Amino acid sequence: MPAPSSAAVPAGALRRGRGAGAPLGVATRGTTGVDRLRRTDRWLAGPGAGALRAAEDPLVVDLGFGASPVTTLHLARALRRVRPDVEVLGLEIDPARAARATEVVSALAPEQRRGVAFGVGGFELGGPAAGRRPVLVRAANVLRQYDVADVPAAWGAVGERLAPGGLLLDVTCDELGRRAGWAVVERSGPQQLVLSVRLADLGRPSEVAERLPKALIHANVPGQPVHALLTALDAAWDRAAPLAPWGPRQRWLASCRGLRDDGWPVLDRAPAGGPRRWRLGEVAVRWSAVAG
Ligand SMILES: C[S@@+](CC[C@H](N)C(=O)[O-])C[C@H]1O[C@@H](n2cnc3c(N)ncnc32)[C@H](O)[C@@H]1O
Repeated sequence: MPAPSSAAVPAGALRRGRGAGAPLGVATRGTTGVDRLRRTDRWLAGPGAGALRAAEDPLVVDLGFGASPVTTLHLARALRRVRPDVEVLGLEIDPARAARATEVVSALAPEQRRGVAFGVGGFELGGPAAGRRPVLVRAANVLRQYDVADVPAAWGAVGERLAPGGLLLDVTCDELGRRAGWAVVERSGPQQLVLSVRLADLGRPSEVAERLPKALIHANVPGQPVHALLTALDAAWDRAAPLAPWGPRQRWLASCRGLRDDGWPVLDRAPAGGPRRWRLGEVAVRWSAVAG
C-alpha cells in the first residue's frame, strides 16, 4: 500500500544555505501527546541504553519535542532508571515552543524536572547542545514533515554530532503511539528498522505501513524491499492464525520467528531482539534488508 504522507517542508530545505548560527531545519506543526512516544522511551531505556550507561557525558536530546514538553519529561523519567545523572535536553527549532517548555517545566517539582532543560536548535544540535556530543538523539515525527530527499542530510548532520557509539532514533508514530516505526541510525548510517505496535488492537502487521520512517514510507510499493518485508510479515501472521485463541502476543511471537525462518535478518538476540522484545509488539530487522 503506498503511503500518501506528503511533506509540509519543501524539498531542499536542508541543502539551502542558512544564516550563520541559524538552526538547521524548518518549524513545522507541533502536534504531540501524553505517552505518545512511550514505545521509544522503552526502547531507549532498553536496547538503546548501552551507550548511555557507558557515556562520559550522559547527554540525550529530544529533538523537535513540539508544542508541549511532555514527551521530553517522560523520556527523562525513563532514562533516569538507567543513568540517574542523565541530562535530557529538549531542542526545538521554534523558539516560542522552547521558551514555553522552559516556563512550564520550571513550575514542576524538582524531582520531576531533574536533569531536564530546553533550548533552541535544529539538526545541527546547536543551542545548549553546541560543543557537546549527545549519546542518544530522538527525533520523533520531525522528518515526516520534510521531503524524503532531505533525510540523508538530516541524518548526516545529527550523526556527525553523536558521541562514539551514539544513536539517533528517527521515529514516526500515530497520534496515540500505538503504531510506530523507527530507524536506528549511527554516525556511519542506518542500522536497524524497528516496528512497534500495540498488539491488542492489531488487525494485520502491515497496518504499521503508515508509520514507517520517512526514509521508507514512500518506498512501500510492490517491488521495493520494505513492501516485501511487510508482505512477508503479514504472511507469517496468517500462518500463525491457529495461535489466535492464545492471544495476539503468542501470534506475534510466532510471526517474528516465522519472518526470521523465512530468511529475513530479524534481530533475534537480546538486547535488540528476541522474545523479550517481540512480546512487546516489537520486531527489528537489519536496515540492509529494507534499504532501496
Ligand atoms: C509533529 S511535532 C512532534 C512532537 C513530538 N516529537 C512528538 O512526536 O509528539 C514536530 C516538531 O518538530 C519541530 N521541528 C521541525 N524541524 C525541526 C528541526 N530541524 N529541529 C528541531 N525541531 C524541529 C517542529 O517545530 C515541531 O514542533
